[in-house]
Amino acid sequence: MSLLRVIVLISGNGSNLQALIDAMPEKKSYEIVAVVSNKPDAYGLERAKAHKIPTAVVESQKGEPREAYDQRLQQALEQHPADLYVLAGFMRILSAGFVEHHAGKIINIHPSLLPKHKGLNTHQRALDAGDTHHGVTVHYVTAGCDEGPIIAQMDFPIEAHDTAETLQHKAHTCEHQLYPSVVHQWAMKRAH
Ligand code: GRF
Repeated sequence: MSLLRVIVLISGNGSNLQALIDAMPEKKSYEIVAVVSNKPDAYGLERAKAHKIPTAVVESQKGEPREAYDQRLQQALEQHPADLYVLAGFMRILSAGFVEHHAGKIINIHPSLLPKHKGLNTHQRALDAGDTHHGVTVHYVTAGCDEGPIIAQMDFPIEAHDTAETLQHKAHTCEHQLYPSVVHQWAMKRAH
């Protein structure tokens, strides 16, 4: 069985990237063929280099239209033919044209139980809303921000002593299990 070829897109720390890297030897179903960042100082780039994964940085230029950035991003992606694009803390909204071009092949992980709490500050918003549960969602990327069809979720109860920080920690722990598992499932389905 050929490995699913994955490009991971990041902007920062890359702990989800690390989880995907760490799960590769066990899952044996996917390979990360490149890591692309819009930020040159994203720590995730170091994580990729430590595992000899090719990296690319596509930094946005001042005043650059979204479509122009996405065209340059597209050129960088084309250097490494891939089956799946995995957004892991990639802090840019992709243009409708880009998303349509890769329809059904871009996924994102979001730190809330979508459709609740789209956007930022999801942990504090879950507390403010008095939610009893919180969690994380893997979903297809479509033109609407955090609106694509849901692929998988993992949830946990919110406890009385929880703060935005403790929820963030719990959410990350879930993400690090869920994302490699979804990519593995994707690879398995494709193999049949
Ligand atoms: C994660 O919490 C993810 O849900 C959100 O961005 C964060 C990225 O964290 N989209 P990391 O860079 O993978 O540590």
